[in-house]
Parts: sequence; structure tokens; C-alpha cells
Amino acid sequence: MIDYSSFLNHLSDTALEPWQAPLETQLEDLWRTLKDGNLPRLLSYVDALPEANTTKVSLSDIVTATGDISDTEALRTQLKNLIPWRKGPFDLFDVAIDSEWQCNMKWQRVAPHVSDLNGRHILDVGSGNGYYGWRMKAAGARTVAGIDPSWLSVVQHLAVNKYIADPSHTVLPFTLESLTPNLELFDTVFSMGVLYHRRSPLDHINELKGAIRPGGELVLETIVIPGGPNESLVPIGRYARMNNVWFLPTADTLASWLDKMGFVEIKIVDQTITTPEEQRPSDWKPGQSLENYLDPNNHQLTIEGHPAPIRATLVATKPENQRLKRYHLD
Ligand SMILES: C[S@@+](CC[C@H](N)C(=O)[O-])C[C@H]1O[C@@H](n2cnc3c(N)ncnc32)[C@H](O)[C@@H]1O
Repeated sequence: MIDYSSFLNHLSDTALEPWQAPLETQLEDLWRTLKDGNLPRLLSYVDALPEANTTKVSLSDIVTATGDISDTEALRTQLKNLIPWRKGPFDLFDVAIDSEWQCNMKWQRVAPHVSDLNGRHILDVGSGNGYYGWRMKAAGARTVAGIDPSWLSVVQHLAVNKYIADPSHTVLPFTLESLTPNLELFDTVFSMGVLYHRRSPLDHINELKGAIRPGGELVLETIVIPGGPNESLVPIGRYARMNNVWFLPTADTLASWLDKMGFVEIKIVDQTITTPEEQRPSDWKPGQSLENYLDPNNHQLTIEGHPAPIRATLVATKPENQRLKRYHLD
């Protein structure tokens, strides 16, 4: 099991305090029923990480911790045991983790359009290993709760946070659907790269709304297709070699879905074609990457002949006067 007590303690001094007891119960239930044989092996790599004295942390494009470490090679070995590192980049005591995705590029596209994160409590749905959470902390966020059902993501975050040691930033091993519904506590909720994995995108949007406090903000980023209102693609078979892609709307369609689910001040703030500069293989994520997922003769198409990935970011507000049915703590 993973010790989340410092994060739970952090919650007690904040507006997220009502979440503390249900979260504690949810974690207890998880540990009691867990059957995942993979977690002990992953945690053994974190246990074997060498001790260090972190003297400086820089939460910029490359999330970096520097200081004195007893054994750099042991650090590299244990971090390599946690491959693939899809999200990053990180640099821990001069071990450069060159991840598949250059997430700094997405953050640069998204961050200018998001309301000031200073002092905010944030839920990052599908957080991966928490790379973006570090950028949110650097922007002043008081709390970043990442949630991601992938144990590898959870454990990569533990490895990084062993050296950054921030109790207000965590990655919890949960899906959005499994969280206490309608918490209505978070000032900002991010969902980046998750919607196309959801079979029911409107339910996903509704669950995001349930987590946001009245007047709070949603930042929604997903793959879209070119086109106008009311168009969307449900790819038959795979999309860019992924077999878990359901709905790819146009940006206008996505905006209309947010409107339908009751969001206001909906803005399409960015649309960017994904390039091999942003997503490529590396020593830390060997094997196939974007280049292999596109038609080699026409990068406008995926290998299956669908429109190639364009990522859209939308920002929207949950109306002040909209409080949902309250959740029950017991
Ligand atoms: C494509 S990655 C995106 C990661 C990161 N947010 C980003 O934008 O780079 C999607 C992540 O969402 C997680 N995920 C999938 N379904 C989810 C769900 N129902 N609730 C929360 N996270 C989910 C996956 O485990 C994966 O780490």
C-alpha cells in the first residue's frame, strides 16, 4: 500500500476538508480489496531509490531537483525500472528523464488561458505521473490532486516526490468515475487527454462538473477532428494504433457539449497539430511513437486513414448559481 497520510493531513487545513474522510475510506477500501500483483514490484523500485539532500527544486519546463545524492547510478537504475516514462521531462540530480511527450509544449499552450492558479485547489483528472501538477504548483496552486488509474503513473509520481517532498501534490490511483460524486470543491478541474478514452463523453463532462465548485473552472483538452458544429468521429477499429478511442468531436462540437452540460463562458483557446517534436520515442520510452502512428506518405492522416491528431483546449466556467445534489459523507 501507499502512504497518503501527508496529503490527507494537508486537506484538513483547506477548503477540501470535506473530502478527507471519504477519501480516507476509499483508500482503505482499495487496500483491502487490491489484487494488482504489479504494485509491489513497482514500489520495490521506489524503496530502492537512494537517499538525497534536495537543495533546489525548479518547476519549470524541465521539472528539476538538485542537491547531494549518495548514488547517482542507483538512482538512474531505479528510475529506468519505471519505464516507460511517457510524461515529462524531469531531471533528478542530473539524471535526465527524457520522456516520450515534451509536456512543457502542451503546458505552454494551455497555461496562458487558465484563470490565475494562485491559491487554488486543483483536480487533475488523468494526471499521468503528475508532470502538469508540478507546473500548476509553480503557478501557485495550493493543492493539486492528480487522479490516474495507472499504477505506473502513481509510482512515478512517488519517485519524483520522494525528492521534491511536497505533501500538497499527489497522484491518487482512482478514475474520475470512482471518486465521491458531486464533491463541488475544486476551484479548477483539468481533464487533459482523457475524454477520447471515455465511451460516454457527456457523462465524463458531467462528472467533471460535479467535482468543480460553483463558479469554478474546467480546462478540457482532447483530440479533435477538423470540421464544424455537430460533427464528430467514432473511429471503427483503432485510431493512431489506440484501441480505446471513442469520440473525436470537432472543437465546435465539443463546445456545444459543454454548453449542453450547463457550462458557460466556453472558449476554444487552442488547436494544435501534434508533431514528432512533441511526441517521440526516447531511451525512457523506447519503441513506437507518433511517427509510427501516422500514414508515412501523408502526415495529415493516421495509419488507419483517419484525420491525424489535433489537440484542442477549451476553458469553461461552472455557473455560480449551479449547485448539484450534495454528496453524502456517510
Ligand atoms: C493520454 S494520457 C494523458 C495524460 C496527461 N493528462 C496529459 O495530458 O498528458 C490519459 C491518462 O488518463 C488516464 N485515465 C484513463 N481513464 C481515466 C479515467 N476514467 N479517470 C481518470 N484518469 C483516466 C490514463 O491512465 C492516462 O494516464
